[in-house]
Amino acid sequence: MSTTRGFFISIEGGEKAGKTTQARMLAAWLEERGGEVVLTREPGGTPAGEVIRDLLLAPTGSDIGPVTEVLLFAASRGQLVADVIRPALEAGKFVVADRYIDSSLAYQAFGLGLPFERVLAVNEWATGGLWPDVTFVLDGGDPSRFLGRAREGAADRIERREPAFHEKVARGYRRLAERFPRRIVLVDGSRPPDEVASEIRTIVLSRLGGREVPGQ
Ligand code: TYD
Repeated sequence: MSTTRGFFISIEGGEKAGKTTQARMLAAWLEERGGEVVLTREPGGTPAGEVIRDLLLAPTGSDIGPVTEVLLFAASRGQLVADVIRPALEAGKFVVADRYIDSSLAYQAFGLGLPFERVLAVNEWATGGLWPDVTFVLDGGDPSRFLGRAREGAADRIERREPAFHEKVARGYRRLAERFPRRIVLVDGSRPPDEVASEIRTIVLSRLGGREVPGQ
């Protein structure tokens, strides 16, 4: 199932890859050009999703197993699609998602080693098969450079996982780019944010193709 009117962009990457900065910069740029933009972040974004977020990310005291983890991320995502993303696209808006299905494929399928096709199937069910028009994966290079701090500080339950997990996530994202070559664009996120943002904007403009570009 796909929507016909709006345009759906997701931004992905490992911890501290600069996703959130890029999602905000892209949303601001689209708005400056007259586009209506809805910015989302996962997990969360709906009342039920925020409760699920707290459950998933609480740093301590959690007994959440790997399958439960997949299902909770998918549940939060499904609610976000139904209540926020799909209505926005149907109204012709841009949606810029800070994380979407690829996060579950990278973190839960590749990171935890759960069966890829099952994680994919559950997410297709949860979202009604809604995929972004384009996905930017910020490849931040070596994830180990931030992990010391992340593991001891205020990091969430998933950020705290060992470096080997985050390396699998980073490799997983590169595998996803190979598996979905038309949708996913790998971007070198280790460059200055302005340079990354400019590359993303150029690609968004070309992907919009014949569609009306906001503000032009
Ligand atoms: P968040 O605070 O939003 O961090 P970030 O800035 O890295 O996006 O926390 C989200 C955490 O949940 C992050 O460690 C990635 C993880 N995650 C998954 O493991 N699977 C998923 O499907 C999603 C959406 C996030």
